Amino acid sequence: MRTGLIRHSQYMEFLRSVPSFQSLTEDVLSKVADVLEATHYRDGDYIIRQGATGDTFFIISEGQVKVTQQTSANEEPVFLYTLSKGDWFGEQALKGEDVRTASVTAVGDVTCLVVDRESFKQLIGGLENVSSRVNDSDEVKGKIEAEAAFFSM
Ligand code: CMP
Repeated sequence: MRTGLIRHSQYMEFLRSVPSFQSLTEDVLSKVADVLEATHYRDGDYIIRQGATGDTFFIISEGQVKVTQQTSANEEPVFLYTLSKGDWFGEQALKGEDVRTASVTAVGDVTCLVVDRESFKQLIGGLENVSSRVNDSDEVKGKIEAEAAFFSM
């Protein structure tokens, strides 16, 4: 096991408190705690860039992040949401196509627990409230993919 015992139980305790993970068993939470990587960011750091490819899922364990989205190439990004401790993001790129549908930046110091695609798929992706979060990004994702397809012709 990569994670030390004390840290592992701290992660477990935190993961248990995440509302969306209420239906996960102790066994699954324990596996998530085994594989996650804690990653730190400073104010203004890009955690995710819209349009990039990505294969990681993030759970905020400290701090706040800002989600912004650019709907067309020559427009300013639009502020969508502030997410904070216990919120998660990055699931869209793991739902098939791997394109990030929005940018996510740190607001102050942030710690995220990061889960890779394979573990996400096995442990978390099946959760109804994670896999079916509907947001405008599905539409934007379509546009990004259409644009990418157009430019690769
Ligand atoms: P992903 O596309 O992988 O990377 C950017 C993330 O921002 C995305 O996954 C979602 O988790 C999050 N996101 C995108 N659009 C919205 C939205 N409208 N509301 C909340 N979160 C969003």
